[in-house]
Amino acid sequence: MSVDYTTLARDLEALLGNERDLLANSANTCALIFEKIPRLNWAGFYFLRGEELVLGPFQGKPACVRIGMGRGVCGQAAQRQETLMVVDVHQFPGHIACDSASRAEIVVPLVPEGRLIGVLDLDSPERGRFTSLDREGIERLAGILVAATDFSPLFHN
Ligand code: SME
Repeated sequence: MSVDYTTLARDLEALLGNERDLLANSANTCALIFEKIPRLNWAGFYFLRGEELVLGPFQGKPACVRIGMGRGVCGQAAQRQETLMVVDVHQFPGHIACDSASRAEIVVPLVPEGRLIGVLDLDSPERGRFTSLDREGIERLAGILVAATDFSPLFHN
């Protein structure tokens, strides 16, 4: 069964409501994603702190805390400022393994008004889990978070 991203987008908009808080909104976004998108083993955020991506709210097993720009799938997506969809992380040179169960990964950069502030990262234990429909839907969810949230606390570091 594919995910109904239109309903999920509506659910996320309702969940965030008029809240602008970065921690609250990112925590609720990854909790909703982890609950509603099947066959994930990790869903969460890395936020840009100086020159590095630093772990933010997430669902799943404890994860590595700091990722340099250009490192792993997250650092590559951040550097290129484009979504990366990996069919099998074992085939991705430089992939950073946090949970050995992860096989497929999608990383969506968050770039409000052209300024990179972090990435949304989803992992699945199923090879080739993410399709172009997932990509479109997850980018839409990331866009809802970006539009709803005040990211200025990230700029004072
Ligand atoms: N696999 C990621 C690291 C983050 S974890 O998957 C939670 C990467 O290669 O950047």
